[in-house]
Amino acid sequence: MSQLRRATALAHPNIALIKYWGNRDAYWRIPANDSLSFNLEGLWTRTTVTFRPDLGTDRLVLHGRPVTGETLARVQRVLDEVRAASGLAWSAEVLSENNFPMGTGIASSASAFAALALAAAAAAGLTWSERALSRLARLGSGSAARSVPGGFVLWRAGRGHEDSFAYTFAPAEHWALADCIAVVSTRPKVVGSSQGHALAATSPLQAARVADTPRRLALAQDAILRRDFAQLAEVVELDTHLMHAVMQTSQPRLLYWHRASLEVMHAVRAWRAAGRPVAYTLDAGPNVHVLCPATLAESVAADLAVLPGVNEVRVATVGGPARVLEEDEGLASN
Ligand code: DP6
Repeated sequence: MSQLRRATALAHPNIALIKYWGNRDAYWRIPANDSLSFNLEGLWTRTTVTFRPDLGTDRLVLHGRPVTGETLARVQRVLDEVRAASGLAWSAEVLSENNFPMGTGIASSASAFAALALAAAAAAGLTWSERALSRLARLGSGSAARSVPGGFVLWRAGRGHEDSFAYTFAPAEHWALADCIAVVSTRPKVVGSSQGHALAATSPLQAARVADTPRRLALAQDAILRRDFAQLAEVVELDTHLMHAVMQTSQPRLLYWHRASLEVMHAVRAWRAAGRPVAYTLDAGPNVHVLCPATLAESVAADLAVLPGVNEVRVATVGGPARVLEEDEGLASN
């Protein structure tokens, strides 16, 4: 494998229960606050990196289409770090594909940069620890730091590059939760997360949200460790509303919710009031992630699917870590 200078890796996206919004240091992606998530089994990005002596420049191909500009530059940030650490000077070809729609609030950048970090490091012959790979993924996309470890994950903001990485605090098998994703739009979002993070500090609410994060994080972690759905539901929804309040009061204001997003939020509130263990959370997009015990996922997904404006429901359970694939597990195609 190392002679070929090629490796393929697979990573899952993750859903944040305590959100990352705003950076203290945008260049190094040192976040304003700690965050907590779980990986989404069943959804993945698969990426093949090949370092080649005959390439004049790095090449990125997503779903068979060459990509340049800002996205390629972010990929090159990760490749440059790997080249600097390994001493390898060659350019790379990066082929990547997802099994879910990009740019819709299902965090494709998280799985994309986690898979890229693992594939690039392996292709260059680096045998890095999980935390070093989490740091590397973070340079491409903050939430990608959380897609490197498996199961229930905490990303401590840290003070700088060295101590800003994510780790597993409970394995995937700890609690059989599901995320039923009500897809209400597959159009790319107007303002992406990276631009959004830069606006967070313009909201008068951001400082209060950040200051209260240790309390919410402790409540969420405790709820997960004790498998207390009612406690988790309250803190997850509070955290989502705090982040969207910051988004909605930034300059310019960011309003990611669609009419159908509100339909789903109201339905989930009514179901929970009637005793059903469900809770919602939304990232920087209109789709609604509805959490529930995995045993109820089928019935929750069926009820979400018939709500007005819901196009599709994807169900994911708690997923494992990003991993390098063996040659015979297949290269990313295209
Ligand atoms: C709303 O990790 O996508 O999904 O670091 O600029 O790539 P970049 O941002 P990104 O931000 C994720 C924001 C969020 C909340 C979360 O996942 O914690």
